[in-house]
Amino acid sequence: MHILLVASAFNSLTQRVLAELQDRGHTVGVELALGNDDALREAVRRHAPQLVVAPMLTTAIPEDVWTAHTCLIVHPGPPGDRGPSSLDWTLRGGVESWGVTVLEAVAEMDAGDVWAWSPLKMPPLAGKSDLYRGEVADAAVDAVLLAVERFGSGKYKPKRQKAADLAAGWRPFLKQAERRIDWATQSTESVLRQLRAADSQPGVLDELLGAQWHLHGGHPEDELRGAPGALIATRAGAICRATVDGAVWIAQLRPWRAPGSALASYKLPAVQALGDLLPVDVPEVPVPLQLPASRRTWSDIRYSEHGEHGGRNAVGVLNFSFPGGAMSTVQCRRLLEAYRFAQARPTSVLVLGGVRDFFSNGIHLNVIEAAADPAEESWANIHAMNDLVEAVLTTTDRLTVSALGGNAAAGGVMLALAADEVWCRDGAVLNPHYTLMGLHGSEYWTYTLPRRVGAAEAQRLTQSALPVSARRAVELGMAERVLQAAPEELGDEVTRLATQLAASPDLAARIAKKQAARAQDEAAKPLQQYRDEELAHMRRNFFDASEPHRALRSAFVRKEKALHTPPHVARLGLAAD
Ligand code: COA
Repeated sequence: MHILLVASAFNSLTQRVLAELQDRGHTVGVELALGNDDALREAVRRHAPQLVVAPMLTTAIPEDVWTAHTCLIVHPGPPGDRGPSSLDWTLRGGVESWGVTVLEAVAEMDAGDVWAWSPLKMPPLAGKSDLYRGEVADAAVDAVLLAVERFGSGKYKPKRQKAADLAAGWRPFLKQAERRIDWATQSTESVLRQLRAADSQPGVLDELLGAQWHLHGGHPEDELRGAPGALIATRAGAICRATVDGAVWIAQLRPWRAPGSALASYKLPAVQALGDLLPVDVPEVPVPLQLPASRRTWSDIRYSEHGEHGGRNAVGVLNFSFPGGAMSTVQCRRLLEAYRFAQARPTSVLVLGGVRDFFSNGIHLNVIEAAADPAEESWANIHAMNDLVEAVLTTTDRLTVSALGGNAAAGGVMLALAADEVWCRDGAVLNPHYTLMGLHGSEYWTYTLPRRVGAAEAQRLTQSALPVSARRAVELGMAERVLQAAPEELGDEVTRLATQLAASPDLAARIAKKQAARAQDEAAKPLQQYRDEELAHMRRNFFDASEPHRALRSAFVRKEKALHTPPHVARLGLAAD
């Protein structure tokens, strides 16, 4: 079927729906709805689609379009739920199950006939965006595929929604004023619900140390205590604030700006955002890398061991999870230190990742943008990232596995490819390219990507700048396995499979073969040479003022809206594609 996706952004869900429909043999075009109805009409005319699907739409489809074509809208709520802040309200309410509905576009928002819907189980700790990219995206894809199949059958009659249900189901836009936290009275659980309902956007507007901030993130703390609302500790760039009955960790802050301010603000690790405002007596409270399972606190890097402890078949798992998948110089160095620790342990398989949501999206563009000298910070960040990738590439005494619970992009994909095996949760979307950020890219990609997919495909993937589904990644040779696991079950599934791998009879032979292959590759072209060649391009990208990277980075961190559908996306699904 020829399907046109209409979306407010080429975001994770739009990319995933695109990849999943393409995987099933549909031809799919994409048009961004950016407030220009005529451009949308023109795209519909150009594509003449059999069906229009809107995976993520914040504006209305013009009436003449939805009367001439069946337009299906994805709503992140079960049938009967309506309104623009569905997930926010739901997370605040703390329900255990939810759903995603595909309904037909009509004049009234979310009031059309229901073509399909899919239920989902709410995860206990995830924030809104994490939930959106995980359980909601899974349910949305199931519902879209069912709706497309039903539409294609020509026989299905969508279900009319009852007028009484429609009236009862409407929930308005959740305003910042209603998101306010009252630190003097609210319990940890209710503060966390409010923070999660606003994470990663728009954050909760609050006052801290005499300034106004949007708070982003929200994790429970089990030991630290203090006066409600007080800033009581820091850890790895995050801050801990006391509540009436406990405390919560907040990973990032975004300074408030008066409406209409010339330059939008952007998120930074909380400690960095506070800068000199942070009182000197607030202690840094680290936790061990091997955190006991009984602890209920936040840490962004963890290490655990499984299987035969200290024995030949033990498995090490190095979990890491950074907001937005972005990895600053400091975060890369901390992860490398943890990797070195893991490497020193007697294990035969070492897993990197293995948690829900983003694996990595490469260097931290926000931290770079905020640096006194962004080019120098970019340089430091790419070196720190490369050091980490190099450590993985040169691990030859055991097998390494990258386990992607969610999406990865740019240098984050290349970090994954440094391991011997790449396992992706079904639904993970990979963007193995840098060009949209005006970068040549590093992370030894010129070694790892062609080695896996061949030179021609590597060229195509990096130049076309399009998303790749987990299944397609396996077909191309970028990944070894697609894991059928819900986001919350991924960790256990990865450990199970890694333990199996560690017990496989040919493990020693595989490690020996890998050692030989690395030595052979090194003799043919040293890793350092790949690094030097890549960094020669990157230096120009970062330091040369005439290069596009600086402006692209600024637009990205400040979330400047695109004015039109990017040409590489607009071309999709058309005859020459
Ligand atoms: N640095 C800083 N923040 C980043 C980031 C990076 N490298 N990559 C993603 N993020 C942030 C986004 O700003 C966004 O923040 P928000 O939650 O406050 O909105 C969040 O992570 C999720 O990204 P988003 O763009 O909403 O997700 P998506 O799934 O729709 O798109 C990407 C994912 C990876 C395609 C897109 O984020 C991207 O192009 N990132 C930059 C990748 C890159 O060029 N890295 C540098 C070169 S190594």
